[in-house]
Order: sequence, then C-alpha cells, then structure tokens
Amino acid sequence: MNFDEEESFKKTPSRRIEKEIDVELLKDKIKEVSKKVDSISEQLSNAFSKSEKKKERLKIFLDTADVEQIRKAHSWGILDGITTNPTLVSRTGRGFRECIEEIVSIVDGPISAEVVSLDSKGMVKEARGLSKIHKNIVIKVPITPEGLKTIKILSQEGIKTNATLCFSPNQAILVAKAGASYVSPFIGRLDDIGHDGMQVVRDIVKIYNNYDFETKVIVASIRHPMHVVEAAKTGAHIVTVPFNVLEKMVKHALTDVGIQRFLDDWAKVPKGELKKYL
Ligand code: G3P
Repeated sequence: MNFDEEESFKKTPSRRIEKEIDVELLKDKIKEVSKKVDSISEQLSNAFSKSEKKKERLKIFLDTADVEQIRKAHSWGILDGITTNPTLVSRTGRGFRECIEEIVSIVDGPISAEVVSLDSKGMVKEARGLSKIHKNIVIKVPITPEGLKTIKILSQEGIKTNATLCFSPNQAILVAKAGASYVSPFIGRLDDIGHDGMQVVRDIVKIYNNYDFETKVIVASIRHPMHVVEAAKTGAHIVTVPFNVLEKMVKHALTDVGIQRFLDDWAKVPKGELKKYL
C-alpha cells in the first residue's frame, strides 16, 4: 500500500470496510468453524472413552455349583467369578449355604447366589442374609416387578445384584435403571425356542454403551464354545460358561496332533549332549 492508498484507506468510512469484508458472512463462517470444532472435540472424546472401555478385559465366570469343577478351572488361572442357580445347586446334592461358603473360599471374585422368594420383602430378607456370607456375594434376582423393587432397594444398600432370567433388551433397560450390577441374558434358552439369543446380547450392549449404564452384561445359558466367541465379539463384559464348554474352549485337535508329532520327533533327537545342561 503506497502513501496515497494509505491516506485514502484511513478516510474510508468504517461502514464501507464492513461492507467490503461482509461482516455477516464472516460471523456465519466463525459459527460454522466453531460448530466443526465442537463436533471434532466430541468425536475425539467419544473415541477416547471407547478406547478406555476396550481396556476392560473379558471376564470368564464358571456357571456351576460343583466345587471340583471350580477348583479345576481355578487352577488354570483364568477364572474371574462364579454364577450359580437353584438347579445347579440341586445337582450337587449339597446344602445351598454350604456350597456357597466353599465356593467363596476358592474363588476371589463375584459369586452369584440366587434368591427364591417371589415377593420383594422376602427377596430382600434372603439377600441381606446371603450377602453376610462374604463380600463377594452377588444376589441373583429374577426380573419381575418385585425383582425390580428388590434390585433398587439392594443397590441403595450397596448390595450387588445380578438380574437373572433376562430374555429381552427391555428387561435389560429396566434392571439397569433399577441399579443392577449385572444382567444375565440367557442366550441358549432363547436359541432353544427359535429366537436369536445373541441378537438380544448385541442390543443390550449397544443400549448400555449409548447411555453409559454401569450394569455389566453376563452372557449366560451358554451351550458351546462359539457362543463364547460371539459374545466376546459383541463386547459383552462377561461370559459364564458350564465346565464342559470351558474344556472345549481349551481343546483343539491340531494342538493334540502337533504335540504328538513334536514328541515323536523329539524321540529321534540324540540326547547325549542334554546331560551337560540338565
Ligand atoms: O447362568 C444361567 C444358566 O445356568 C442357565 O443355563 O443351560 O439352564 O439354560 P441353562
């Protein structure tokens, strides 16, 4: 800008400059950019919280009241907790309390023990008694209106609950609202009647993630190892597996064949020099 231009610029009325720059357009642009910045920062924060969530590891519970099975699985170093129910306890031929007391002495993780009353008053009474056995006891409560009331009361008392016999995303929404620590969708029983059990799990996981509910999803009524794989792919927090499924998870025919082949070939290796090291 030369001297003359500079002088004429100084004399230009500010309104003319505003017109040249088009203040309104500029304001719109600033709004647009600031909206984009907001949206990018929201995306970044979502991505960050998702990646934080992914740090949580899949937990494996054993779905049994059989202490021999529990001891075996525990010795493998992969067991995070136990779920029981009245049927599983009845299969042991032992008393309920006796079973639970032994289980809590083996596994240091959440141990689900189920109430059998149908009314909230009875459920709460049973729950308070069971929760005194050990700090790891989680009270399994069936999803009914009385069950919802019970979950709410227990959550206010700091007693953990596992909302059981869940067969729909709606049930999962209600128990999360009531404050359940866990929800157990029974996928095998849904598959048995021609429904898609895993789809219910996918829906529940998506809904819980949408709203950041704290209730953890325990995929239950698992019948075979592929149920575990599919459950893990949905991002469910926990799978509770019967012992026979856990055994199938670790086994692979090619692993057995491979071990045998290595042993056969090892037999052909001269062992003389080994004596130096062993
Ligand atoms: O944890 C629930 C589970 O014990 C139910 O399994 O095989 O009786 O459907 P299932």
